Amino acid sequence: MKRFNLKTVLLVGAALALQVAAVWGAAPRTSGAGNALADLHTALGVTCASCHGTAKVAAVDDSERSINVTCVGCHGNLDAMAAQARAGSHVNPHKSHLGDINCTVCHMGHVQSKAYCTNCHAFAMKIPAGDPVPQKPAPKAAKKAAVKQRVERADVVVIGAGAAGMTAAITAHDAGARVILIEKQPITGGNSMLAAGGMNAAGTRFQKAKGIADSVELMYQDTMKGGGNIGDPALVRVLAKESAGSVDWLTSLGADISDVGRMGGASVNRTHRPKGGAAVGAHIAGVLKKNAVQRRIDIRLNSKVVKLIEDNKGRITGVQVEGKHSGLYTIKAKAVVLTAGGFSANADKVAFYRPEYKGMTTSNQPGATGDGMDLGAKAGGELKDMKEIQIHPTVAAGSRILITEAVRGNGAILVNHEGKRFVNELTTRDKASAAILAQTGKSAYLVFDEGIRKSLKQIDGYFHLELVKEGATIQELAAAINVPATVLEATVASYNAAFDGKSDPDFKRPDIPRPIRTARYYAIEVKPGVHYTMGGLKINADGQVLAASGTPMAGLFAAGEVTGGVHGNNRLGGNSISETITFGRIAGASAAKLVKGGAKK
Ligand code: FUM
Repeated sequence: MKRFNLKTVLLVGAALALQVAAVWGAAPRTSGAGNALADLHTALGVTCASCHGTAKVAAVDDSERSINVTCVGCHGNLDAMAAQARAGSHVNPHKSHLGDINCTVCHMGHVQSKAYCTNCHAFAMKIPAGDPVPQKPAPKAAKKAAVKQRVERADVVVIGAGAAGMTAAITAHDAGARVILIEKQPITGGNSMLAAGGMNAAGTRFQKAKGIADSVELMYQDTMKGGGNIGDPALVRVLAKESAGSVDWLTSLGADISDVGRMGGASVNRTHRPKGGAAVGAHIAGVLKKNAVQRRIDIRLNSKVVKLIEDNKGRITGVQVEGKHSGLYTIKAKAVVLTAGGFSANADKVAFYRPEYKGMTTSNQPGATGDGMDLGAKAGGELKDMKEIQIHPTVAAGSRILITEAVRGNGAILVNHEGKRFVNELTTRDKASAAILAQTGKSAYLVFDEGIRKSLKQIDGYFHLELVKEGATIQELAAAINVPATVLEATVASYNAAFDGKSDPDFKRPDIPRPIRTARYYAIEVKPGVHYTMGGLKINADGQVLAASGTPMAGLFAAGEVTGGVHGNNRLGGNSISETITFGRIAGASAAKLVKGGAKK
């Protein structure tokens, strides 16, 4: 990849400025928005045309792909930018888990830039044209209502490009449908991108290779029990039955989910993740995106579906989209698949359903606002279990960073500010969260050692983010986290005795894979945070959205967190990615079948 230094950029920009001024017969313009990247470029002599081309109407596509080609042409791609990181700076924003994203996700042309990562991470991130100058409101988009709207056609429109959406899109495409995948955020991946612990599946080849005896029935029983036995048995059965096939499908696309560990509420090790214990979500989201791009699936970023279109018989026949740059337009489609996720990042909605969670942090990405549920419900879809909102016990205190349950699964313990264990660390999330909220300061420490750290690659990320306190001895660790050293030493000694004796008489933890006796010793302070919304649109086992009458809504399918019924009142760790892949495949196949005339609805 050819890269230019700043001097070259200035020279090229100045030359282009002269050329374009000649073509347009005008001096280079500023954006008019004040502190924006366009102004910065203009001040350096880089003109509008350098980014937008010399056409009189400088159109930018909603996904901003073409303009990003220009950014990369001058500055280099993400890898090149990452290589320029200052020595000693612990955060390298160009080397992130978000994959190959557009430069314009963070560096905005006509409004003040904002690092996308600061939606989740609390970094003081200096970014060109992003200094904390009061931001002028972005110029209001011209009202397009009076203009005749553009109308496009597709076989299947998929709404939301997280794991469920990309899976549905790929599946429908592979079954012969022409698919458009719509995403309101500037990047694909949704919440799935942040998924950490893994993907649950029973009876997989990877379990068999490790001698783990599991079954569809056991996964079904664990999931029903974990969800308070209010999950929809038919959906839970599908989740368990199809899970091994979903692991094979993902593997066939190039994913590595060959490592198998355990998460809370599981009777055996069935949580699949990349070798070495890397986070599952960024990996899977990358593989799915790569496959969607290879298939040339039409993915539209910065595009929000504002309405489902129905015909006079109530059949869903398309969507109305608001594109960031193109404004309102319509896509007529034979089938629509909703995969727009949950609403954990919508504080008002969370507080509406659960006032006691008002003001609580969330582990979710900012797009998880529940729009898909609203769209489906407005069109007549039945919502179920909306009050069932999951609090994850271990979000790093003072942040939105989820500390994966896999750390506990691999051996870590939870201790309170008095230095004592207080719960079976492998219990379900509802119980672990309630136990933490009952402790002093409503927080706890996740304590582990070098052996546990080495067993799970994603733990390195917590060090990178400076979330970890440490000590060469338990005594030193106790001092670092301000708990009584003798108590913490006794707690760890008793846990190690439970490991040696293969039984945990104090808390009945069902599995202790490692002791805590290899220096160094580590702790992360954790607090519960809103993590997952179990409720959503009611579906059947074919992924069809159901109306209040219980009948399937013609032309409308859904998968993933936008639906309700799979997880009852408490989702088990690792069942979310499992659900997105299995039900994404089902919804995509059902939609394609309808398009091909093989289905009734
Ligand atoms: O703790 C976790 O890794 C979360 C996983 C999940 O929500 O499935």
